[in-house]
Amino acid sequence: MVGGRMEHPRAEISLGRRGQGKGLGSRRLFRNPVAKYVALALAATGLVIAALTLLASIMVEDWSQRDIDLRSQLVFRSIRDQVAMTAKPEVDLVPVFQRIAEDERILALGFCTAQGQLRYATSAFPKSVTCDSVRRGSSRTFGTAADADRRIRISSFPITTGSTTGHLLILHDLSFIDERISEARLYTVLALAGVALGLALLATAIVLALRRAWTLSIRGALADEQTDPLTADLTRNDFPVSREVRAALTELRMERRFANGIHVEWSPKTLHRLLVEELPASQVIVVSNREPYIHNHSDHGTTLQKPASGLVAALEPVMRACGGTWIAHGSGSADRDTVDANDGLRVPPDDPTYLLRRVWLTDKEQGGYYYGLANEGLWPLCHIAFVRPTFREEDWVQYRKVNERFADVVVQEATRDDPIVLVQDYHFGLLPKMIRDRLPKATIITFWHIPWPNAETFGICPWRKEIIDGLLGSTILGFHTQFHCNNFLEATDRFMESRIDREHASVTFRGHETLVRPYPISIEWPPAALAEQAAVRECRDAVRTRFSLPADVRIAVGIERFDYTKGILDRIRAIDDLLTCHPEWIGRFVFIQAAAPTRTKLGTYSALQTEAVHLVAEVNARHGKDGFDPVRLVVRHHEPDEVFELFRASDICIVSSLHDGMNLVAKEFVAARDDERGVLVLSSFAGASRELAEALIVNPYDPHGMAEVLLQALEMPPDAQRDRMRLMRDFVRERNVYRWAAQMLLDAARLRRHQRIAAHGAAGEN
Ligand code: G6P
Repeated sequence: MVGGRMEHPRAEISLGRRGQGKGLGSRRLFRNPVAKYVALALAATGLVIAALTLLASIMVEDWSQRDIDLRSQLVFRSIRDQVAMTAKPEVDLVPVFQRIAEDERILALGFCTAQGQLRYATSAFPKSVTCDSVRRGSSRTFGTAADADRRIRISSFPITTGSTTGHLLILHDLSFIDERISEARLYTVLALAGVALGLALLATAIVLALRRAWTLSIRGALADEQTDPLTADLTRNDFPVSREVRAALTELRMERRFANGIHVEWSPKTLHRLLVEELPASQVIVVSNREPYIHNHSDHGTTLQKPASGLVAALEPVMRACGGTWIAHGSGSADRDTVDANDGLRVPPDDPTYLLRRVWLTDKEQGGYYYGLANEGLWPLCHIAFVRPTFREEDWVQYRKVNERFADVVVQEATRDDPIVLVQDYHFGLLPKMIRDRLPKATIITFWHIPWPNAETFGICPWRKEIIDGLLGSTILGFHTQFHCNNFLEATDRFMESRIDREHASVTFRGHETLVRPYPISIEWPPAALAEQAAVRECRDAVRTRFSLPADVRIAVGIERFDYTKGILDRIRAIDDLLTCHPEWIGRFVFIQAAAPTRTKLGTYSALQTEAVHLVAEVNARHGKDGFDPVRLVVRHHEPDEVFELFRASDICIVSSLHDGMNLVAKEFVAARDDERGVLVLSSFAGASRELAEALIVNPYDPHGMAEVLLQALEMPPDAQRDRMRLMRDFVRERNVYRWAAQMLLDAARLRRHQRIAAHGAAGEN
């Protein structure tokens, strides 16, 4: 750096010594852009003035000469006859000529005989002009001659009447033309210089005003640098240039942030901004089986239920931020009574921001598509929970039919030919292609919320090709983990004639490219349910009272749908093991399992419930003491505020899924603990274990190992709990569900841009 700085003065001195100082000065002057443009403008103005002055001179000269020639002809016509009649040697025409020559412009008149003798000439007839020096043709001629320091216009008119032949010469002094030209030049220069000056002043005023506006804009935009670019208000109503500058800078900063992966605080506002900026004027349509709001008839009239569904927990805040239309199965008993004539209603009920469009399914459709193919076929196929998948032809028929029906509704709801359609989950394996066939320009982002098994396992499915084909209609196909993406690519490689680009993680099938990427799902931050929560101490008191628990009892909770993939039996067995091996905890530890009934029509689910009830009874019989049951099973739906109260009241949260795409219960528990206390015990087979590394990771198939981890959790000092919880909270806060949606939308936006450029390129080549 120092060496670099020293070089400049030395270079200047040596140039000065060589006598190039002046040149350097003028070169420096011209490095100044303003001086350069002023010099250029002056030169251009000078050139224009010179050209126009020349033009004016030529015009004045031409016009004056024509004027003179006309006057000569007039004079000629007025005396022609007289001259013709009397031009004889004995008649003196000089007095007649003299009278005419009194005219201010006429210098002299003369008459040349046919022999070239100047017979008559007025006194001022210049000696330099002789009959021989003048052209004397058979028709009139005009010419200009120099005489001393003046120019003379000589008009020569032949006269051939009667006995007289010769030429009448009329001479005009052209000095007045030179005066006229000088005047014309002067006025032209003055007028043009005045106009140029006026324009220069006007341009300077405009430039100064613009420069001021730009300076203010740039200052304002730089001041905005302090704020998050995604939260900056671009709609601020000010000078258009300012808006453009601010937008350009913001875009630049956003691009830089996204490109560099710089931390962006994702929120509803930033997600909305992203949509407006990156995918302007687009329509968002979500399709899922489960609806976000269910209306049911009850003894108290119509009640509103928010379903226990990871999908709904993730997508609902995204839709609140983005707006648009959510198409889902209307499954509530009062759903039909709460929609308008188009089967839609605006939700959330207390602050409507998007449209919920309900689709009605018959029992037969529901039985084949939802219970059959989706939950008896694909669900056990994708979750390795050792429940045999069942595939029935009639279920497949219904699955296809229902996917077609949803495709129809997407087309009905689309207000443009290129909507962004977010297709959710294993209920709609065929839908992406069906939409692609009808809306080829749509951006279809499909998210598979459950695991994708390895190719051997997936190969069990009789309709493996149709399902992969259907999914490859997507623009983007998302899974929770890279592992699930790899499994999908492996299955595609094995069963389809496609081109797989592993470097760009994409599959091209029948000329259409689908990106296959991991997008780990998450929850809203901060969770809406947390806002209404009392302090942790009050939550604990409320739960202790509800479950009649002594003040010193430590609480562990498990909260989910009553599903065999969740490992509910396994964790109860682990608790049995814990109390067997560490009886000192009997009476001092309770496990509350909140289980929401789900898919109860299916044998596997009802069997699980029965088995769980028996197991709980057994464990309570074995370890119960003085009427105190160590395991409490509550089988009913819990609304989010109840769930969050349980999370806040507990010391431990157990998530022991046998297999899970992500598991949002784990993230909700972390989000609920703003007191930075509590221990998360998490299955290594849940996608969440890849992200929440500070949880105590367990193998749910090993009850004794899990019991030991539960003991570790019970004994974990508050400091260690805080350190772990803090890290996990930071992670979930940063990687919230708005970021999840943003990553997919950003990829979709990039892809749209590439496709538009490619289309333009192709059009250009044609
Ligand atoms: C899983 C699925 C979701 C589904 C949820 C609830 O998390 O991935 O798509 O919403 O289970 O299941 P349900 O059958 O009640 O909708």
